[in-house]
Amino acid sequence: MKKNKTKFSTDAVRSGVIRTQEQEHSEAMFLTSSFVFKNAKEAANRFANPDSGNVYSRFTNPSIKMFEDRLAALEGAERCVATASGMSAILACFMSLCSQGDHVVVSKSIFGTSIQLFNNILSRWGLDITYVDLTDFAQWKKAVKKTTKLMFVETPSNPLTELCDIKKLANLADANGCKLIVDNCFCTPALQTPIELGAHIIIHSATKYLDGQGRCLGGAVLGREKDMKEVFSFLRSAGPTLSPFNAWVFYKGLETLKIRMEAHSKNALELALWLEKQKKVERVYYPGLKSHPQYLLARKQQLLGGGVLSFAIKGSKKEAWKLIDSTKMLSITANLGDVKSTITHPATTTHARLSQAERDAANIQDNLIRIAVGIEDIEDIKSDLIFLTK
Ligand SMILES: Cc1ncc(COP(=O)(O)O)c(C=O)c1O
Repeated sequence: MKKNKTKFSTDAVRSGVIRTQEQEHSEAMFLTSSFVFKNAKEAANRFANPDSGNVYSRFTNPSIKMFEDRLAALEGAERCVATASGMSAILACFMSLCSQGDHVVVSKSIFGTSIQLFNNILSRWGLDITYVDLTDFAQWKKAVKKTTKLMFVETPSNPLTELCDIKKLANLADANGCKLIVDNCFCTPALQTPIELGAHIIIHSATKYLDGQGRCLGGAVLGREKDMKEVFSFLRSAGPTLSPFNAWVFYKGLETLKIRMEAHSKNALELALWLEKQKKVERVYYPGLKSHPQYLLARKQQLLGGGVLSFAIKGSKKEAWKLIDSTKMLSITANLGDVKSTITHPATTTHARLSQAERDAANIQDNLIRIAVGIEDIEDIKSDLIFLTK
């Protein structure tokens, strides 16, 4: 894997720059569908080898390349392939690295739409899927078989912030000739670099913290050159391509990623500690809390707890909705990773399309609430949750 000489904060603002002859300081945005060739021979050469220059923005564009190269530097990956959304990053990864009949092992604790993608789409194309508990290593070991190609996790998971030991799972994958994919959406490379721990592929929903201000949809797949060549080839033919405008937004977003993740984590920890003391709260899920079952693993594997926490309110959906409706500042929206705090009821939004059995398997109960803690003043966030104190 590529090792950078410069440090994270430097790479976040300096890596990947493509400067034009205009010598602009802030990176230019290349809003163009195609590129002009000097002559027919150059056109033919470029089509044969898109690495030699720009061709068409479905698969070559300098704004997208700047985002890809910067994110690859931050994750310590050989190559990044940007996609139109986080979901298309997962789709591109499985479509390009698996064939009919291949087996994959998937954590039960993943984003609801990812479960939909596996159960309703990829399974129809002959993918053999086994779900296991994210935290139970024995289940992973038992599930892996000869035809297993990929293992897929979110750590911390959405929304319950469960963790897996990345190093241990990566070793299991290596021992069985398959690859571990980590959706690194919750931590981002500012807090966790799974490739350093042995993971083979990283998935991002850039829509979340990489943007950081809730503006654009996008995604990315990162890993070794050999695997990313396959993903790139899928992108070129199938076209779930990132827009150059969105790439530019993410590229600038990466510049402030570290300081934002530190601010999100600081607020989230303080809110989690406060929530633990409220009498209407049954249980708080946050990896930065000592009460989190994997607190020690989180300390070993992540720099900080991240910005997302969940909690179970005493009661059921009625009480959860009452709390959500009582807030005045927090945004009732399904996104996360925004500088503005967002509040969500997973059972009826992000995980609503799952069956009751699927929700039970993922432990998404009706009294669960997720807050993606923003960077507002923490006292104002607590004041907005005053319902919990009465
Ligand atoms: C952990 C995780 N992965 C992937 C996605 C999908 O990303 P997108 O909405 O950009 O398609 C989400 C979206 O919420 C997510 O939370």
